[in-house]
Amino acid sequence: MKHLLSIESLSALDIDNILADTARMKSSRGRHSEQPLNSQCWALMFSKSSTRTRVSFEVGIRELGGNALFLAAADIQLGRGEPICDTARVLGRMVHGAVIRTFSQKDVEDFAAFSGIPTINALTDEEHPCQILADLFSIRETRGSLDGLRVAFIGDGDCNVARSWIWAAARCGFELVIAAPPKFQPPASLLQRAGGKITLTADPLEAAVGADVLYTDVWVSMGREEEAAFRLAQFQGYQINAHLVSLASPAVLVMHCLPAYRGKEIDESTLESHAETIFRQAENRLHAQKAIMARLVKNSQTRC
Ligand code: CP
Ligand code: NVA
Repeated sequence: MKHLLSIESLSALDIDNILADTARMKSSRGRHSEQPLNSQCWALMFSKSSTRTRVSFEVGIRELGGNALFLAAADIQLGRGEPICDTARVLGRMVHGAVIRTFSQKDVEDFAAFSGIPTINALTDEEHPCQILADLFSIRETRGSLDGLRVAFIGDGDCNVARSWIWAAARCGFELVIAAPPKFQPPASLLQRAGGKITLTADPLEAAVGADVLYTDVWVSMGREEEAAFRLAQFQGYQINAHLVSLASPAVLVMHCLPAYRGKEIDESTLESHAETIFRQAENRLHAQKAIMARLVKNSQTRC
C-alpha cells in the first residue's frame, strides 16, 4: 500500500491495520515518540471546498513532524489547464506526499502514477476513502467490533461516500442496506463487482429497521449544484429523523460525514441528539489520516 486512492483498492487486512494504527494515534496524541514525516513537505491540492479534510490533514502533517503546503487548484496552473501528469511530475520532485481533493478519480490515480510520491484521495466524485476509514474506526470504537454490523445508508446511494461504504462492506463483510430514490441508486454492475452483503431499496423505513448505524450525506454533492432543485424534490422522504431512528436498533449510531444541511438529509433535533457521535466522527478524521500517512511513508521507505 503505497497510496490511498480508494477503499476498493484496500484489502480487509489493510483496513484492519489502519484501524489499529488509528487507535494508537488517538491514544498517543501529544505524546508521539516518532515523527514519521520529519523534514517532509506534503502538498494538499484541492479543487473543491473543505473544512474537515483540509484542517485534519494540515494538523496531522504537522503533528507527524512535517510541513503542509495548501494549493487551491484555482491558484496553481492546474486551474488554467496544465495537465495533471505534468503537475504530478513537478510536485513529485519537490514534495514528499500529496493529498488531493478533486472531481475525477482518474486524476488522483494519474497523479499517483506520474508523481511517484505517496498520494491520498481526499475525495473524488467516486470515493471518499479517508472518511469511511475514520467512520469504521468510530463504529469500532463504540461497538468494539464490526462483526454482525448492519449499516443503513439513507440518501444519495450513488455518491462518493455511499460508494466507499459499498467497498467497505464488501471488504469487511458487514451488511449494508442503501435506501435511495431509484435515480440515485448505485449501478447494479458496481454491486456485482463488489459482492458482499449489500442490498438496495427505495424504502428508507425498510432500510432503517434493526440498523446499527443510520448514515447519511448531503443530497447535493459538490459539483452537482446545477441539479439541486431536481435532487431536493427526489430526496423528499429520505430524511433521517426521529421516526427513522425509532425503527433502528435501540443503540443505533446516527452518523453524518458533514457538512450537514438541517431540515434536508437530517432534521435538527436528530442531529443535535447524536452530535457526540457525529462530531467524534469528524475528530477521528485526524487520527485516521495520521495513521494512513505514517503507513504510506513507512511502506515507501521499505520499498526503496
Ligand atoms: N466530511 C468532509 O470531508 O468534510 P469537508 O468537506 O469539510 O472536508
Ligand atoms: N458527497 C459529499 C461529501 C462531502 C464531504 C460531496 O461530495 O460533496
